[in-house]
Amino acid sequence: MTLRKDFLWGGAVAAHQLEGGWKAGGKGVSVADVMTAGANGVERRITDGVLPGENYPNHEAIDFYHRYKDDVKLFAELGVNCFRTSIAWTRIFPNGDEQEPNEEGLQFYDDLFDECLKNGIEPVITLSHFEMPYHLVTAYGGWRNRQLIDFFVRFAEVVMTRYKDKVKYWMTFNEINNQANFDMDFAPFTNSGLKFVEGENREKIMYQAAHYELVASARVVELGHKINPEFQIGCMIAMCPIYPATCKPEDMMAAQIAMQRRLWFTDVHARGHYPSYILKYFERKGFDLDITEEDIKNLAKGEVDYIGFSYYMSFAIKDQAEKIDPSLKLNYMPSTAEKSEKQENLGAPTFDYIENRDLVKNQYVQVSEWGWQIDPLGLRYSLNWFNERYEKPLFIVENGFGAVDKVEEDGSIHDPYRVEYLKAHIEAMKEAVNYDGVDLIGYTPWGFIDLVSAGTGEMKKRYGFIYVDKDNEGNGTLERSKKDSFAWYSKVIASNGEEL
Ligand code: BG6
Repeated sequence: MTLRKDFLWGGAVAAHQLEGGWKAGGKGVSVADVMTAGANGVERRITDGVLPGENYPNHEAIDFYHRYKDDVKLFAELGVNCFRTSIAWTRIFPNGDEQEPNEEGLQFYDDLFDECLKNGIEPVITLSHFEMPYHLVTAYGGWRNRQLIDFFVRFAEVVMTRYKDKVKYWMTFNEINNQANFDMDFAPFTNSGLKFVEGENREKIMYQAAHYELVASARVVELGHKINPEFQIGCMIAMCPIYPATCKPEDMMAAQIAMQRRLWFTDVHARGHYPSYILKYFERKGFDLDITEEDIKNLAKGEVDYIGFSYYMSFAIKDQAEKIDPSLKLNYMPSTAEKSEKQENLGAPTFDYIENRDLVKNQYVQVSEWGWQIDPLGLRYSLNWFNERYEKPLFIVENGFGAVDKVEEDGSIHDPYRVEYLKAHIEAMKEAVNYDGVDLIGYTPWGFIDLVSAGTGEMKKRYGFIYVDKDNEGNGTLERSKKDSFAWYSKVIASNGEEL
């Protein structure tokens, strides 16, 4: 029993987390450029523009912008046949609303993709990965504004046309469903450039922004297929399956509704229309969203070709979680709703879900140092969930273990914990293919070269097979070296997943 012969084995990154060169080649300021470094359990701050004296870790990141040629050589040595990265929108349209693209930015990705292809590595491209132009936030209010659809479609048209013979696999919006956690500031800002003012209905605005993104995605899928009918254009979903904490029927029901609230985005991407459960929810909440007849037509014409998703962990939920002892909660931080004491009583029969309030610890799994629950079987479960529901090819475009690595005196780095995590997940993925019949395109573990953490802005939360000498404060030589896991992953790729 094997994975398909043309299985894509790669590694995944995002432009803002590794490129650096935040002003190089005419690049504009992105939302990632105004986020300070946080820490484990401490949210990153979003500043009003780039302020003096702040530490913005994405400005330099790991300086891939200037070092990509050597890095691509290392990727080739690792043996990957694909490389998932994103195109920084701000390199192509620095402010996002220009008519003409920035040639220097386009040339950078031409050179990068040529370097990859020369080394037998196929680029897999995300169009928007937490890095929209900051100008679109300040001048338009981010994706709450319908005009963003046209700006994004223009950006996509330019890059898809330019790279039509270099890139086949595309994804539109990275982890579009993170913003289901609308109570915290991070996800709405990184997904959609949303900043809220006191008293605004965050949830409604999030749904509106997500709607515009889904329309933009659908238009790009349709357009992309015209640019090159060979294109495979997918969505990108953060999959954290939500289990009921017990078999109590109310917990089961709460889990089902929670899955709907986190994953309805996939329904629209993959089926081309809104599921009835979310329309009913809008009706009950009185959300009179701007959804036109033309939008509905566009959604129907823009079903994705495949479902790309990230998988790091699973969640668990208990009904009525607000009554639960906070010590049983997962990664608990008081939400805006709680802080402002405006929270409704959301008990049965609605089973409404507030992400930051309702998740509980799963007693059956271990957690990483950052509180992420480690659950390899959850990956098989997730693959089955997507497969049953959509019957489309699947692509695991992120998976990995963020951990602190220690460099030994002789420079070696022993990271058996990373190998253990990835091995268990690859095993689960193979079982989903071999026993459950899932159609799987590929596997690209996250941050295969160390980079800046999206959630915390740290360097010390490392995922890579390739170590980068840089610490949280920005000190270090930026030199690259191989961890023990490098040889392990090479062997996995060379054996098409047979030797783990
Ligand atoms: C996903 C994102 O959420 O998880 C990546 O697509 C991110 O951008 C990755 O880096 C891991 O999260 P973190 O917070 O550990 O960097």
